[in-house]
Amino acid sequence: MEKVVNLAKRRGFAFQSSEIYGGLASCWDYGPVGIELKRNVKDAWWRDMVLTRSDIVGIDCAILMHPRVWEASGHVAGFTDPLVDCKKCKERFRADKLMDARCPEKPSQHPGECGGELTEARQFNLMFKTFMGPVEDTANVVFMRPETAQGIFVNFLNVLNASRHKIPFGIAQIGKSFRNEITPGNFLFRTREFEQMEMEFFVKPGDDERWYDYWKETRLQWYRRYGIRAEHLRLRPHAKDELAHYAKACVDVEYEFPFGWQELEGIANRTDFDLKQHAAYSGKDLSYFNEETRERFVPYVIEPAAGADRATLAFLVDAYDEDEAEGETRAVLRFHPRLAPVKAAVFPLLRKDGQPEKAQQVRDILAAHFPVQYDQAGSIGRRYRRQDEIGTPFGITVDHQTMQDDTVTVRDRDSMQQARIPIERLPDELRRRIDV
Ligand code: GAP
Repeated sequence: MEKVVNLAKRRGFAFQSSEIYGGLASCWDYGPVGIELKRNVKDAWWRDMVLTRSDIVGIDCAILMHPRVWEASGHVAGFTDPLVDCKKCKERFRADKLMDARCPEKPSQHPGECGGELTEARQFNLMFKTFMGPVEDTANVVFMRPETAQGIFVNFLNVLNASRHKIPFGIAQIGKSFRNEITPGNFLFRTREFEQMEMEFFVKPGDDERWYDYWKETRLQWYRRYGIRAEHLRLRPHAKDELAHYAKACVDVEYEFPFGWQELEGIANRTDFDLKQHAAYSGKDLSYFNEETRERFVPYVIEPAAGADRATLAFLVDAYDEDEAEGETRAVLRFHPRLAPVKAAVFPLLRKDGQPEKAQQVRDILAAHFPVQYDQAGSIGRRYRRQDEIGTPFGITVDHQTMQDDTVTVRDRDSMQQARIPIERLPDELRRRIDV
């Protein structure tokens, strides 16, 4: 993990937020290659969950919502974690996760084992509050959404009427959520501000278990499709006493991070809980009428809810590898080409004989198709290493032969094999290899 975090900072994947002021705990900024990686993760999700499907549409809701939304959803009353304080070191811990935490003064021990006395547990609401308008009183309190899902539920009728979809159908959203986590940590894994990729799939009651099984498998396969090794993924069903108040069943897609098996995504059968709650609190009828069968019902909801930052971290960790190249150890990120932040790098072999100008021309041709870098600094081996570290799948070298026949060498990041390809065929050839 330490190697990945160091590489991430050194090569521009992620930086500590407000670093020059000492940093803000558990907040991270994505750097030039990190933002491309995360965008590719979100784009892959959007393409597979919305664009290529005829039964799912997208939405983008406001972060701030009517405060009654969070009463109806159960978040005001129940979105809490049990919190304890250590009277000695003054640190706060989740009472239900003491065995996962370390005493800051004696890191070999868990809180409470170190001689520090813990207070009684009290419930702490994880929602961030702010005020709408200039007057800071309780009547003006609004919450920063702790999940994107509720924006989808309250728009169920709007989307249904506008898109004229029939059940079963889904509404997907990617956007920021905020939780005042008691113990954030592990780099991008648990933060207080993060992005979610959530989809609410509305089905007829009775069809819910079939669709729950379908989404479990589909979502597990999605992580494999983009290169996460099968042995690092598993489905973990929630025990009855673990289930959220709205769920009839829930399973986590877990990834084996260097710090243990952890949740990447939850797939829940939320039943008709949310639509019924919003109907009761808003006074609006949120039932669905099937014109063909003349049936009216409140749909059940199957929800695959993923974290964009957590998925990005998993793809980063899983891609990290070290091997031998040209007699030295290289760090290489073996990203799926679709996720790789930069798809190709173009190098002139020599900084003379017109090669830099030709290489710039090749860069310009490719830049119209995907992110590409140009590098002429240092030995060709060094330049390959720099690209391996950010996971660039293709290294393109312009050499003396290029100046004669307009061909270049294309080096594959993983096999390190090189092939000669005419420049005019490069965009199509690389696109073919990226879109696998
Ligand atoms: N709408 C259901 C819901 O929000 P969740 O399991 O609380 O369910 C879904 O969150 C996903 O959001 C998680 O699987 C995780 O990937 C991501 N997530 C939740 N809290 C997070 C945090 N503090 N930091 C980063 N990602 C988080």
